[in-house]
Formats: sequence, structure tokens, C-alpha cells
Amino acid sequence: MRIAIGSDHAGYELKKYILDRLGSKYEFLDVGTDSSESVDYPDYASLVAEAILNGDADLGILICGTGIGMSIAANKYRGVYAAVVYSDETAALAKKHNNANIICLGARMISYGDALRWVETWLNTEFEGGRHLRRINKIKSLEERVCGQKSR
Ligand code: RB5
Repeated sequence: MRIAIGSDHAGYELKKYILDRLGSKYEFLDVGTDSSESVDYPDYASLVAEAILNGDADLGILICGTGIGMSIAANKYRGVYAAVVYSDETAALAKKHNNANIICLGARMISYGDALRWVETWLNTEFEGGRHLRRINKIKSLEERVCGQKSR
């Protein structure tokens, strides 16, 4: 399993922190940014979303100041389900119920230790299926109806 990870300047230090601690345990595709110099988060949301959609990665992590801008941008892609995670429970439920293929973290809002734990919780939780699959299929129908194109 390969995990694409990207951040803007606000998320750069947390991205580094996560890669330093989990880089030997999981396979990451780091799409940048590579410094704390100001950049625009939609550019990195696009790189991670496209890595998933073209098969270069299975899952993604996006980090900005709040996690919000990254989630708004990534969710413009059909087939991308990006969830802002802000607790142990939301980290688990983002996979269990929503089968989110990207989690978004707000580096300016959370502790790095919490973020690290939430990443591992999300990675190691399974999608429950059942009624949650029915709901996800409704989201996919929405994508087709509203956006006019079939997702993967
Ligand atoms: C950058 O200053 C900040 O706006 C960005 O990281 C993010 O929080 C946007 O949602």
C-alpha cells in the first residue's frame, strides 16, 4: 500500500514529522511542499488526488493549516473522498463508515502526537460496508448526476 502525502507551507513541519516517524513503516509518495515558503494548498491537494486516481497511490494524507482548504479542493475530484479528521473517533470513523481515501489534517489546530496517532488509526481501520456502502453508493450516484461523469 502506497500513501501519497502533501502539504502547504502551514502543514510542512507536520508532514515532515509524520514522514520521519512513519516513513520506515509505510510506503509514502511525498508530493511536497518541501519548505515553509508560502504555497497554495489546492496545488498539493491536486497532486495527491491525482496520484490516487491514476494508481500511483492507494490512499492520501493532506495537511494545511486547518485541513479545511485541502478537503474542499481534494473533494472536487470524482472518486476522492477526503475527510478532515480531528479526534481518535473521527480518524476511525472516516474509514469505518466513510471509507475516506484521503484524510486532511489541520496542522495549526492539533498536536503532532495526536495527528500521528490518527494517521495510524485511519490506516489500520477497515471499512465496515453494509449500510455504509449503500450511502457511499449514493454519493457516487450524486457524483454522476451532479458532475456528469462516472467515477472509478
Ligand atoms: C494558509 O495560511 C492557510 O490558509 C491554509 O494552510 C489552510 O488552512 C487553508 O484551509
